[in-house]
Amino acid sequence: MRRAGTSHDPRWYKDAVIYEVPVKSFYDGNGDGIGDFIGLEQKLDYLQKLGVTCLWVLPFFPSPLRDDGYDIADYCTINPSYGTIEDFKRFLKAAHDRGLKVIGELVVNHTSDQHPWFQRARHAPPGSPERDYYVWSDTEELYQGVRIIFVDTERSNWTWDPVAKAYYYHRFFHHQPDLNFDNPAVMKEILSVLDYWLDMGVDGFRLDAVPYLVKRDGTSCENLPETHAVIKAIRAHVDLRGPGKMLLAEANQLPVDVREYFGDGDECHMAYHFPVMPRLFMGIHLEDRQPIVDAIEQTPPIPESCQWALFLRNHDELTLEMVTDEERDYMYLAYSQDPQARINAGIRRRLAPLVGNDRRQIELLHGLLFSFPGTPIVYYGDEIGMGDNVYLGDRNGVRTPMQWTSDRNGGFSRADPARLYSPLIMDHVYGYQSVNVEAEESDTASLLYWMRNMIRLRRLFTVFGRGTIEFLAPSNRRVLAYLRRCKDDLILCVANLAGSVQPAELDLGALNGYVPVEMLGYTEFPAIGELPYFLTLGPYGFYWFELQRPGA
Ligand code: GLC
Ligand code: CA
Repeated sequence: MRRAGTSHDPRWYKDAVIYEVPVKSFYDGNGDGIGDFIGLEQKLDYLQKLGVTCLWVLPFFPSPLRDDGYDIADYCTINPSYGTIEDFKRFLKAAHDRGLKVIGELVVNHTSDQHPWFQRARHAPPGSPERDYYVWSDTEELYQGVRIIFVDTERSNWTWDPVAKAYYYHRFFHHQPDLNFDNPAVMKEILSVLDYWLDMGVDGFRLDAVPYLVKRDGTSCENLPETHAVIKAIRAHVDLRGPGKMLLAEANQLPVDVREYFGDGDECHMAYHFPVMPRLFMGIHLEDRQPIVDAIEQTPPIPESCQWALFLRNHDELTLEMVTDEERDYMYLAYSQDPQARINAGIRRRLAPLVGNDRRQIELLHGLLFSFPGTPIVYYGDEIGMGDNVYLGDRNGVRTPMQWTSDRNGGFSRADPARLYSPLIMDHVYGYQSVNVEAEESDTASLLYWMRNMIRLRRLFTVFGRGTIEFLAPSNRRVLAYLRRCKDDLILCVANLAGSVQPAELDLGALNGYVPVEMLGYTEFPAIGELPYFLTLGPYGFYWFELQRPGA
């Protein structure tokens, strides 16, 4: 079978395995209690060994950190807590030397209220270009009916500014004023931010909160054609650099609306598949494949050059904004009986605690993540089964220090424990004394070993990132079976969504004579014949088979 493309392939993102990493939380190189670029550079060997091919680095800019850095006060430097621009360049070079791509964040829907643009705007005369970097109004009347995203903390999308003596608009926290994309000066600033980081050599950007850029009265102010025009302009600008730079849209929207962020291959290269994620959890909890099959089958086709980004968890809550009311109620009941675990329209838990630390469910979910059409993203710490702390406020409970060893501060930092940016996870099940990289590296049966293995296996076959998907319809609905196909390459995936042993009878008639070879052990199974192909699956078990042509 065909091997995945190299990092020189301009469509590298189609075969990538992305690792989401907050600098602050990964490794503290200078012992002040906060992770930094020196520390991240020191851990590149670990990441390379894990097998990931691209690092998505969370916002690392100067910021009052009231939204963990998504509240940016300066787009073109590094938060001094994380290091200097020289540290960043050294990290970037070290990553590139290892063949790892690095993508950053373009958070351009809003800035921090501490950004000099906002400070200037509030003092500037109404109607001046400086004032109009942001969206102002004398009343709260404009854009009525637009939903509030951070429902737990914000009552309105408008906040009164006593300095400007006017209201400013914000879709997120009130300290994050939205930029005004109707002002050409704003667009110019954004393009120069892009240039700054592209000149430095970053390989792409995640476009944060991208559906809300342009506002129009009488609409939902989401996914407007004017917003797509802005994205097309950003893309055209990036393309001036030649191929190989990637844009990833964060658009937490319904599949038809997310589809638009690919345009005709002239907007973003990638977009998160938000709708499928909660359905993976639902499918396993209900022991029924239907929610998963529906989510994938309702996914519209996308241009050849584009790719879905798949994930199980990330730095935010497990968002339930884009599921039906019944599904949301079910998810809350199934996955967050403790009300403390809920925030906004979602659940602030890590992967392992979500599934009761059941190793088989963690493996199954990754088996699906790695074999569905798209590029998988692993959230730091989930590869070792880290836990969370729902008492830390906001979404900080899933942003605790990476657990490297069972030593002081989990090996994350040499600082006085009181100085750490966040307490470590310390409970008996997930605490750093038991869950840490060092322990898992000395245990060949650990989750970390298993993850390394699976990531390597997935990377051997381009069909996972580039192939089509066809679902089979075995009568047992607890079984999810699908074919992945790319040119002559053919893979059969079979998963048991239930916690009990299940039989699967697969109608593979058209593949009579093909020989399934189990891919982890490279074990040949009996050839497919006239009758339905029969398999038995253990609790939450799954298999990947390469289907070899008769006589091959
Ligand atoms: C994105 C980020 C989230 C942040 C929000 C506002 O959704 O993922 O962490 O709070 O944007 O910037
Ligand atoms: Ca530090």
